Amino acid sequence: MSDSSNGQSTASFWTQANALLRKNLIFQKRNIKTNIRLVVFPFFLCLLLVLIQTLVNNELDKPSNRCGCTCVDTGRNGQCERRCGIEYSTLDQVFTCSIPHPPPLPPLLQIPSEQYRAIRTDFISYGDLPDGSCKRIGSCPVTMLITGDNQTFGQSVAGNMFARPLNIDLSDILYSLADDALGSETKTRYTNYLDPAFSSNVPVDFLQPQCTSNSQFSVPVQFGSATFQQDLRCVQGLQLWRNSSSEINDELYKGYRKGNAERKINEIVAAYDFMNSNENLLNVTIWYNSTYKNDTGNQPLALTRVPRSVNLATNAYLQLLLGPTVKMLFEFVKETPKPETTLRLDFSSLLGPLFFTWVIIQLFPVVLTSLVYEKQHRLRIMMKMHGLGDGPYWMISYAYFLAISSIYMLCFVIFGSAIGLKFFTLNDYSIQFVFYFLYINLQISLAFLVADLFSSVKTATVVGYIMVFGTGLLGGFLFQFFLQDSSFPKAGIIAMELYPGFSLYRGLYEFSQYSFNGNYMGTDGMRWKDLNDSDNGMREAFIIIAVEWLVVLCVAYYADQVVSSGRSPLFFLRRHQKKFSSSFRKPSLRRQGSKVFVQMEKLDVQQEREKVAQLLLESSTSHAIVCDNLKKIYPGKDGNPEKFAVRELSLALPQGECFGMLGPNGAGKTSFINMMIGLTKPSSGTAYVQGLDIRTDMDRIYTSMGVCPQHDLLWGTLTGKEHLLFYGRLKNLKGASLTQAVEESLKSVNLFHGGVADKQAGKYSGGMKRRLSVAISLIGDPKVVYMDEPSTGLDPASRNMLWNVVKRAKQNRAIILTTHSMEEAEHLCDRLGIFVDGSLQCVGNPKELKARYGGSYVFTMTTSPNHEDEVENLVRQLTPNATKIYQISGTQKFELPKHEIRIADVFEAVENAKSRFAVQAWGLADTTLEDVFIKVARGAQVFSVLS
Ligand SMILES: *[C@@H]1O[C@H](CO)[C@@H](O)[C@H](O)[C@H]1NC(C)=O
Ligand SMILES: *[C@@H]1O[C@H](CO)[C@@H](O)[C@H](O)[C@H]1NC(C)=O
Ligand SMILES: *[C@@H]1O[C@H](CO)[C@@H](O)[C@H](O)[C@H]1NC(C)=O
Ligand SMILES: *[C@@H]1O[C@H](CO)[C@@H](O)[C@H](O)[C@H]1NC(C)=O
Ligand SMILES: *[C@@H]1O[C@H](CO)[C@@H](O)[C@H](O)[C@H]1NC(C)=O
Repeated sequence: MSDSSNGQSTASFWTQANALLRKNLIFQKRNIKTNIRLVVFPFFLCLLLVLIQTLVNNELDKPSNRCGCTCVDTGRNGQCERRCGIEYSTLDQVFTCSIPHPPPLPPLLQIPSEQYRAIRTDFISYGDLPDGSCKRIGSCPVTMLITGDNQTFGQSVAGNMFARPLNIDLSDILYSLADDALGSETKTRYTNYLDPAFSSNVPVDFLQPQCTSNSQFSVPVQFGSATFQQDLRCVQGLQLWRNSSSEINDELYKGYRKGNAERKINEIVAAYDFMNSNENLLNVTIWYNSTYKNDTGNQPLALTRVPRSVNLATNAYLQLLLGPTVKMLFEFVKETPKPETTLRLDFSSLLGPLFFTWVIIQLFPVVLTSLVYEKQHRLRIMMKMHGLGDGPYWMISYAYFLAISSIYMLCFVIFGSAIGLKFFTLNDYSIQFVFYFLYINLQISLAFLVADLFSSVKTATVVGYIMVFGTGLLGGFLFQFFLQDSSFPKAGIIAMELYPGFSLYRGLYEFSQYSFNGNYMGTDGMRWKDLNDSDNGMREAFIIIAVEWLVVLCVAYYADQVVSSGRSPLFFLRRHQKKFSSSFRKPSLRRQGSKVFVQMEKLDVQQEREKVAQLLLESSTSHAIVCDNLKKIYPGKDGNPEKFAVRELSLALPQGECFGMLGPNGAGKTSFINMMIGLTKPSSGTAYVQGLDIRTDMDRIYTSMGVCPQHDLLWGTLTGKEHLLFYGRLKNLKGASLTQAVEESLKSVNLFHGGVADKQAGKYSGGMKRRLSVAISLIGDPKVVYMDEPSTGLDPASRNMLWNVVKRAKQNRAIILTTHSMEEAEHLCDRLGIFVDGSLQCVGNPKELKARYGGSYVFTMTTSPNHEDEVENLVRQLTPNATKIYQISGTQKFELPKHEIRIADVFEAVENAKSRFAVQAWGLADTTLEDVFIKVARGAQVFSVLS
């Protein structure tokens, strides 16, 4: 590489992005099964919709749902002519017929049915009401209540309401019927092309003050070209005076809905309050019962039975003023003409919001688990430690999820349109596009935010899917209910829409409303101009989603910086502070605090400290790693004292040195490594890697750092080679040098041959994974490498191979290695530090340490028990300062100070002894590193107990 002094130059933003993208694509390729399942889900739902749709259409296409036709005998040759139209239709069919000339129908009053008509009861005890006996003979009168300021006046107006007697002019039925107060007990419908009163067998009633015996007859009524006989029946109309409108109110209130439940009745035709009316003024209030309707769905009631009650009052008033010859006639009511329609229900519009909410939210757990996976397996941090910046990570991850989501949505919309779902085809595609695009962006940002809350993929998956189904169901069965309730405050709906699932539901609901109506009326679905409709919630949904997207994205990035990167919640403020304080840093001033401690330290550790101080003053970069008084304190929790994980550690590592950290479990080695690789921040003090401060420049340090973590952090579905290619690219290796580096690296850890390199890492054995991790930590020629117990779990052959790799690697870089294997430490490390209770107990190369802490040989000899004394004498002759450390049935062990004996003397003495008595076995051993370790560790622990 050109810039050989500084390793590779830092990988640019785009290089990193490229590396990550390639890795993700491979990862996705391996996940093809999951992806197919993902895309198949909406297909499946769409097909289900189509199936339901077909069934419903078949049902609707039955002749009983189409305009009625019949064969009309034309009289010629017995042939018949097929005619269709309203007159050949049943009530159910009428809706679909073409009606170019709707029939004029006499306006009717709504009359309570026989059993519900007002009578005297225990709770309404007006004496003028009929008693219950009329029920038995079925001749109950219908009641009208009258009130007003002037009783005389009010009653005279009311007296003119019912024409008497009934006279019918057959030449003009409608005209003559217009004089009479006709009414019906049947219930009205959504449209009034054919009033049910004229097509049922129930006679139409006409109200009279008193019915004569001959009170039922029939008249011919014309419908289009057909004429049929309609029965008319007289019903007595009772007009009862009440003292005030509040009395009427009271009476109606008490009677409300009593009818059905208890057969105690109080339904009336209408009530009139004439108020201050007089000869010069008609001021009237009319009560009518709007609850009368044939309840089919939410269709509004056709109020065709109300106008007649108004006309009754005005006509009666006019006649009072001007005499019975003057009339204000209300002759007929008539619907507007309409073409033939077919009955169509679009199921995609009805079920759409629920199904499609599921389809779209489904992406959320997918993105979420993918993010949590990288977090749970610490892959994110691993990538970061190998130089992947936050910027590229965010950009590529985001773009990547956006691409996946977009493709998914595109497939969904195209497929839905292809099979002809009105939901998609009727609404403007550009609105749909904008809506889905905004929403998937919000969803991805949300997943980034929520991912910080989870540390396990399993929980994330479960919670994610519960959310998917919960949101759909709550939307469909709760939120939609509020949407349809026009009295529910708009602010409440908007508040609910702040939950993204509901704003999605709202949008889909609006689409479905427009497509449903469009399909029913044969018009278009939603267009951009429809966003201005007052009850179209799409505009709010758009605004909420767009604003939330931006907010959530910022919060997610911030939270990510705090949670994943371990920055303090106020990092953006801190950054400036740090720069500020570091420019005023005076290393020499900070020495004083440690004086007391220094005195208790061993000479070697103290020397190391002084060396560090010297290096800091020189500010030379000859040393790859310089730790300056590094300290980590975990704050005490639940009343426990603070835990000192690392105490004032000073250490300097030159280029090319491998430093081994030994120490019992819990000594603080991992805390130290975590600080060095940027997982945690030091409590005080700092370290410089290649001259860069770990507190502020971690991002730059990462580009020349390699880490082999204690637990293998690998993607199960990527191959070993792909791992190395990815990390190599992050380290700015390109083209031929990348392939070469990867190949060499694979060869060096013996993962190259036999297709191992192209096997997925998930299928590797533990040892292979370990070797791959080491290879990863070394790729791209990092200047500083941290290896946390690299050889644990390896068989001796692999371990030897690994050692060779490390040995070769340490030539031009600094390696810090923690291990529990003394053999490994001795074999690999140039220097060792024994770390106990947060601080270094000794530093030095293995030989020095052994010399310093061992300083003696161990002499072992086994004889028969009766020669024990002779053996002891022999040892005492060699050196009087020997100490016996072990004795049992003839086997004895002595420690001999090194400087007092020569090995040759020992051999000679033993030869002598052999000639005198039987020596079964003997041995002379140098102290091992293990002895040193145990000695140091034990000594330090005693010390720490005493202090
Ligand atoms: C009440 O109405 C009658 C008839 O219209 C009228 O003669 C009388 O003066 C009115 N009474 C009052 C108090 O206005
Ligand atoms: C209504 O007024 C009349 C006469 O003023 C009175 O006799 C009657 O008791 C009143 N009815 C009620 C229910 O108050
Ligand atoms: C109005 O009509 C409904 C439905 O038929 C009935 O239950 C209710 O009691 C009626 N109310 C009055 C005041 O007549
Ligand atoms: C009609 O009657 C009401 C209630 O008594 C009254 O408030 C209103 O002023 C009257 N209207 C006219 C035009 O007199
Ligand atoms: C309501 O209309 C249906 C036909 O659509 C009819 O069968 C039913 O009897 C009607 N109900 C009432 C209470 O009129």
